[in-house]
Amino acid sequence: MRPLVSLLLALPILLFAFPTGPGPGRSGAPGDSGSCSGGSCHFGAPRRGEGAAVYLPFGAFYTPGVPQRILIHATGLSAEPVTARFGFQVSPRMAGRPQSDSGGTLRSLGPDTWVQCANARPPVDGACPNEWQIASAQHTRPSRDPVWELEWTPPAGASGPIAFYVAVNAANGLADQAGDRIFLNSMQVERAGPLAVRQPFGGGGASPNAWVEIHGTNLPTAGTRVCAGGRDAAVISFTSPTQINALLPAELEIGPQILEVTGRGVEPTRSPIVIQSASPSLYSEMTGARPGETAVIYGTGCGDLREPRAADVRVANLSVPGMAYASPGIPGLCQIHFDVPEVSPNLYTIHVCIDGVCNGQRVQFPVLVGIE
Ligand code: HEM
Repeated sequence: MRPLVSLLLALPILLFAFPTGPGPGRSGAPGDSGSCSGGSCHFGAPRRGEGAAVYLPFGAFYTPGVPQRILIHATGLSAEPVTARFGFQVSPRMAGRPQSDSGGTLRSLGPDTWVQCANARPPVDGACPNEWQIASAQHTRPSRDPVWELEWTPPAGASGPIAFYVAVNAANGLADQAGDRIFLNSMQVERAGPLAVRQPFGGGGASPNAWVEIHGTNLPTAGTRVCAGGRDAAVISFTSPTQINALLPAELEIGPQILEVTGRGVEPTRSPIVIQSASPSLYSEMTGARPGETAVIYGTGCGDLREPRAADVRVANLSVPGMAYASPGIPGLCQIHFDVPEVSPNLYTIHVCIDGVCNGQRVQFPVLVGIE
């Protein structure tokens, strides 16, 4: 009789406890009931300010009411890379009132995620009832891959900064709550200006020596000049009334800057931009390699490469040391060299992280069959 009573008592918690993703209020946001750890849930104090990232296609900017695809990345490493399983919960909030004001709606884009409102019920027609307006998205089952894609729509009336709160579990995949690593992080996005900046190959953001696509309207096609943080772009390779492709200079200041586009016969257009020390964006066509061999992959956004830079390459949930080099004769294109780890032949999601910034993409690297 006794075991049945304790089971019935634990039922509500267990319902939210299984690996199919936590109940509402577990993103670690102010006002949340907590995160993944605590009580009968995952053990161990969460690590704050690390281990989880949110990537937006045009950097840390939003346009009110305009949906965009976001990537959630568990950058924290599991203690057991081979059996690793990852989970997450993310919740957007108005940065000024995170306890109460929703930072927009979320929509699942596949079977690996689900969305709930603050009453633990799914949104109706994409929206949560006003009294339960805070939405969160989480994993449906522990994932081998530490990346999930969602659609986020910022509130149509928003103007101030929006904060994403993310809780991640880099678990050992052995279904014991002691083997989990909990990470809590948050990142802020600002209202976009008239120019939207992204990098070729799909990685968001901008950094010194990176190729960028500048999207806008009525952009100059004659006498075009691009200036970031007061410094002229190194190269302008393409112009049209809606897009300019340019190579940002290597000597750019890191942090929030102003991007200015001018040209003959048009008013200057100014827009905020955030320059990171690196913003890797990988070219998805990758030549595979065997375990023990040195692989070379290409991209842009490796930052100032007047000296080679250390890169943390993530493949098969392992962290492998790599180096980023400038590609001789091809300004802005970087090449990352790393030794392929001893893992079984397969296609693996790959991330390159430089100065703690990883590529906001879902790209795969082929590990080839080793020589016997
Ligand atoms: C955002 C917060 C959370 C995340 C990201 C998360 C993630 C995960 C993941 C990835 C697993 C599979 C672990 C493995 O296979 O080793 C798991 C399992 C589990 N979770 Fe959570 N979880 C969260 C919150 C919670 C909460 C709040 C509870 C309790 C109410 C809970 C209870 C459990 C239990 C009992 C298991 C099965 C045992 C285990 O595998 O560790 N989780 N969770």
